[in-house]
Amino acid sequence: MVTAVRISLSSVASRAAAVVMMLLLSSACQAQLSSTFYDNTCPNALRTIRTAIRSAIARERRMAASLIRLHFHDCFVQGCDASILLDNSPSITSEKFVIQNNNSARGYEVIDQAKSAVENVCPGVVSCADILAVAARDASEYVGGPSWTVKLGRRDSTTASPSLASRDLPRFTDSLESLLSLFGTKGLSARDMVALSGSHTIGQAQCVTFRDRIYSNGSDIDAGFASTRRRNCPTTANGNGNLAPLDLVTPNSFDNNYFKNLLQKKGLLQSDQVLFSGGSTDSIVSEYSRTPSTFSSDFASAMIKMGDIEPLTGSSGIIRRICSAVN
Ligand code: HEM
Ligand SMILES: *[C@@H]1O[C@H](CO)[C@@H](O)[C@H](O)[C@H]1NC(C)=O
Ligand SMILES: *[C@@H]1O[C@H](CO)[C@@H](O)[C@H](O)[C@H]1NC(C)=O
Repeated sequence: MVTAVRISLSSVASRAAAVVMMLLLSSACQAQLSSTFYDNTCPNALRTIRTAIRSAIARERRMAASLIRLHFHDCFVQGCDASILLDNSPSITSEKFVIQNNNSARGYEVIDQAKSAVENVCPGVVSCADILAVAARDASEYVGGPSWTVKLGRRDSTTASPSLASRDLPRFTDSLESLLSLFGTKGLSARDMVALSGSHTIGQAQCVTFRDRIYSNGSDIDAGFASTRRRNCPTTANGNGNLAPLDLVTPNSFDNNYFKNLLQKKGLLQSDQVLFSGGSTDSIVSEYSRTPSTFSSDFASAMIKMGDIEPLTGSSGIIRRICSAVN
């Protein structure tokens, strides 16, 4: 009797130990991001990043848009790991020159400034991938957009992938179906995709990205809008880089005008207008055009979801000393 009890007690103890071990192991394997990640190791990290981001946007308002886009173009390519920030080097082929980024993605130097400010207060602690995520939130907030609590603890890649970048970053010529499927592979729903596209309420696009659309004379674009945009976007290649605001009404503030534009067939890019063009996402666009508060809260949730795409955590990846190169 006594022996039997002892055996079963010790087996309970060893099972409990096994369960604890498994919990520890599984949390190590899929370490979660957490908003308090730097609370002990770098309590001033968020404040330091915010100061750098705010001064950059105060110098140039468009930078808010550029920084939000940079986080997006990071997360869609092998996860939110700052791979987009790596320059060409003997061991790296940079993502900066793929068609979706070349002469287009910008703000790299602002992330470098934020990184060096953070390195001054806590060297070797805060990842470039986290700085991108925080910068996107600070940028949105600064230009009147939603704010949210950023989850932290991402680490930086030691690799970049131009081939994944060219495959996984959307193109302005993509159909609604391709866009839905691409965002779907990243775990983002149609609603997430429409909300995130609402970042085109700020920022600029180059003539080369909307020329075909404004000269198409199609029924999917407002004729007056097309004619206005043609003035600064000639048919010749030397106008390729001429800029136009993605939101014609309020290009410098983060609001829901982007969706109102789509209802009037005044989306600048084809990939904007396909969101409201008789397809499955029309109802979401209408809803966001009517209810800014719903857009705001969906945008914040979708940014958090996007920031969660395949992060490197735990002992994967590194903390880069400078964002443009591996240590
Ligand atoms: C749905 C698929 C998308 C496509 C095809 C697309 C494409 C583009 C293109 C072609 C430009 C103009 C680039 C240039 O002319 O240099 C642009 C700008 C921009 N995109 Fe997107 N985009 C998409 C989704 C998103 C998402 C999800 C975000 C953010 C979460 C975003 C944020 C921005 C911002 C803020 C700008 C302005 C950047 C600046 O002024 O520097 N876009 N996008
Ligand atoms: C990127 O742009 C530069 C300058 O406009 C151009 O010379 C280069 O060929 C482009 N790179 C790629 C890979 O297309
Ligand atoms: C569309 O209309 C414009 C202005 O009326 C004209 O210059 C252009 O050639 C037309 N484009 C097409 C593709 O028909």
